[in-house]
Amino acid sequence: MDFELKTLTPARACAEKCDALVVLIPLNGPTLELADDPVSRLATLAIKAGDFEAKPAKLLASYRTAGVAAPRLVMAGVGDGSPKNVRAAVVAALNLIKNGPGSNIRRVVLSLNLLGDAGAEVVRAAVLACGDASYSYTLTKSKATSTALDRLTIAVPNLAAAQAGFDKGTGLVKGVALAKEWGNRPANHATPTLLAAAAKALGKLPHIKVDVLGPKEVEKLGMGSFAAVARGSSEPLRFIVLRYEGASKTDAPVVLVGKGITFDTGGISIKPAAEMDEMKFDMCGAASVLGVFRTLAELKPRINVVGLIPACENMPDGYAIKPGDVVTSMSGQTIEILNTDAEGRLVLCDALTYAERFKPQAVIDIATLTGACVVALGGVRSGLFSADDALAKALLDAGESSLDLCWRLPLDDDYAEGLKTNFADVANIAGRAGGAITAAKFLQRFTTKFVWAHLDIAGTAWKSGAAKGSTGRPVALLVDYLLGVAMTADAAVSGKPIAKAKQPKVRAAAKSSAE
Ligand code: BES
Ligand code: MN
Ligand code: ZN
Repeated sequence: MDFELKTLTPARACAEKCDALVVLIPLNGPTLELADDPVSRLATLAIKAGDFEAKPAKLLASYRTAGVAAPRLVMAGVGDGSPKNVRAAVVAALNLIKNGPGSNIRRVVLSLNLLGDAGAEVVRAAVLACGDASYSYTLTKSKATSTALDRLTIAVPNLAAAQAGFDKGTGLVKGVALAKEWGNRPANHATPTLLAAAAKALGKLPHIKVDVLGPKEVEKLGMGSFAAVARGSSEPLRFIVLRYEGASKTDAPVVLVGKGITFDTGGISIKPAAEMDEMKFDMCGAASVLGVFRTLAELKPRINVVGLIPACENMPDGYAIKPGDVVTSMSGQTIEILNTDAEGRLVLCDALTYAERFKPQAVIDIATLTGACVVALGGVRSGLFSADDALAKALLDAGESSLDLCWRLPLDDDYAEGLKTNFADVANIAGRAGGAITAAKFLQRFTTKFVWAHLDIAGTAWKSGAAKGSTGRPVALLVDYLLGVAMTADAAVSGKPIAKAKQPKVRAAAKSSAE
């Protein structure tokens, strides 16, 4: 999809030659009454007649409208014009266009002209929604069913106010699409080896370096827990290390750790058959890390970021780990594997220990970790865990600003009681109660050397049912967080104060907890 940002007056937008014109209409805004172009007049008329309400995502479509060059016109209500409402309106309008009988709609003009000075956040939300609509999965289909939509022009009244949001949005679209694509690929088309090749390909982009370790090196590092999970599969494991170097070498990096189980059968503690196919999505944490790096290469913020992906399959066979087996993690802690289906934490714990060597300012792991998190938060918010209030707040804020929400859950030590065992330092499961939290408590044991947060994306990384597919979450959240960290660092260097609301206090947090 080609994106273009253009200053067009409402009248000029009406005259623009394209396949469909989408005009966002605010509720009770003064701009609509002041505007004197064919679409604004039509909208005013329809609202007065009670045939259209500019509430979020309400649509009014017309064909060969007088004064409009595009054959198809869609007016889409955006209520108060908030980024969230703009996203909903754009999604609704593009769905109408895409799913309509008119098949060859290639070029769409989206007018934000009536929203006043459409700010960066609104423009970014619009671009991201367009990116979402234009993504389609094709890899394993014999006939092309991709949408024809390939050119999108965003019309704004003021280029300067919109440019930053537009650039951020188009950079994000690439990362989100990459995360979606790898999430969606079936496990036989997304093995640990193929995932590593995808990471290697990112290594060709500016400022990115990639190293891939195999079974021997992982064994040598002492990652006995990660290696144990991989044992039951004929596909060799991969440990992927990505580096984005956007700042001085002396700047402590943020480390992102993505769960990369390319298929989770549950192992010997095998899962029921129903919906087991969805366990191809069990590498969406890894895919989100790849997506973030793709976007970093576009936006080039001044920050250092390390991505770590332990990738393997969780399969049952003669070599597979058995319930009751005890393994030794890279940290030296021994783990009794009471349930081989709690494998995510087993691969993540060794990656977390590996993260120590980067002396990070913060470590964030991203994992489709527990069904319990799906029960707790559904598909709306990812689960967020951190003992560090400043880091938790920075991630919560990044979720709000990027419309990629998360919600903080507790980490009281009492939740770790159930992980006690007579046969090792720790067991890999506790009881059913509070399952998302006990999983986080397990991980926390491996994070004593740095400031850490855990995102459980089991409910948010993909959709089930008719819309089955990867969402690309939480790429937007992570990118907003990283841009916030970069901005704070820039401000510290230049001595310039930055707006309070936009100031994630991550660096301060990293320092205070190290004291
Ligand atoms: N990948 C799953 C978590 C999952 C399950 C995500 C369903 C999304 C939907 C994870 O490896 C797993 O199997 N977790 C177990 C842990 C349990 C054995 C303690 C779970 O949640 O059932
Ligand atoms: Mn599992
Ligand atoms: Zn899993």
